[in-house]
Amino acid sequence: MTIKLTWYGHATLGLEIDHHHILIDPYFSGNPAATTTAQDIEADFILITHGHGDHIGDTLAIAKRTRALAISNAEICTWLKAKGVKTHAQHIGGGYNHPFGYLKLTMALHGSALPDGSYGGNPAGLLLTAKTGRKIYLAGDTGLFGDMRLIGEEGVDLAVLPIGDNYTMGPADALRAVKMLQPKHVIPIHFNTFEVIQQDAAAWARQVEAQTTAQVHLLQPGGSYLLA
Ligand code: NI
Ligand code: MN
Repeated sequence: MTIKLTWYGHATLGLEIDHHHILIDPYFSGNPAATTTAQDIEADFILITHGHGDHIGDTLAIAKRTRALAISNAEICTWLKAKGVKTHAQHIGGGYNHPFGYLKLTMALHGSALPDGSYGGNPAGLLLTAKTGRKIYLAGDTGLFGDMRLIGEEGVDLAVLPIGDNYTMGPADALRAVKMLQPKHVIPIHFNTFEVIQQDAAAWARQVEAQTTAQVHLLQPGGSYLLA
């Protein structure tokens, strides 16, 4: 069973596992890097790492159209549920067996206010274990933290990390993150969308591959990576 990961630009990702379409941080409207629209995207599940507008994005519109189940922390789920969205609330450190795999919320160092100013709880990362045993760590928006070592101890096959700097880890800290996580494969995201997060991802990839055993996969928005 191959897992297909598609980067839609910024921090918006799609995962296809078996016949399940999982959308992560679905920011299409207003996303200058978006390669598709909230009207056209398929979703059975929507995973939201934190409440910021560039992550909760088009969740409401997509969830209403597709009837997808939204999965996030308890505060964001309460906010979504009040607006008529089907939700499954989890919280940091907690995992649950969903039809697409076992999903655990991990810590992230960031904020999480919702677009209307509501409290969005603590921001999270996502650690997904597919039924094949493959582990994917999606760090979400975060600064570097030493407990990435604990996540690495689980045996990460693919890590998806922000490298944009300014709002999240920049390239230097993302390289340190790779050293702690020791993933087999890495995909950088959350860069080049806006002026303040312009980065040379190819230069970062060369550094990572020179200093770690991880293989970096540079996607263009709209591009996919297959994890066998
Ligand atoms: Ni954010
Ligand atoms: Mn962000």
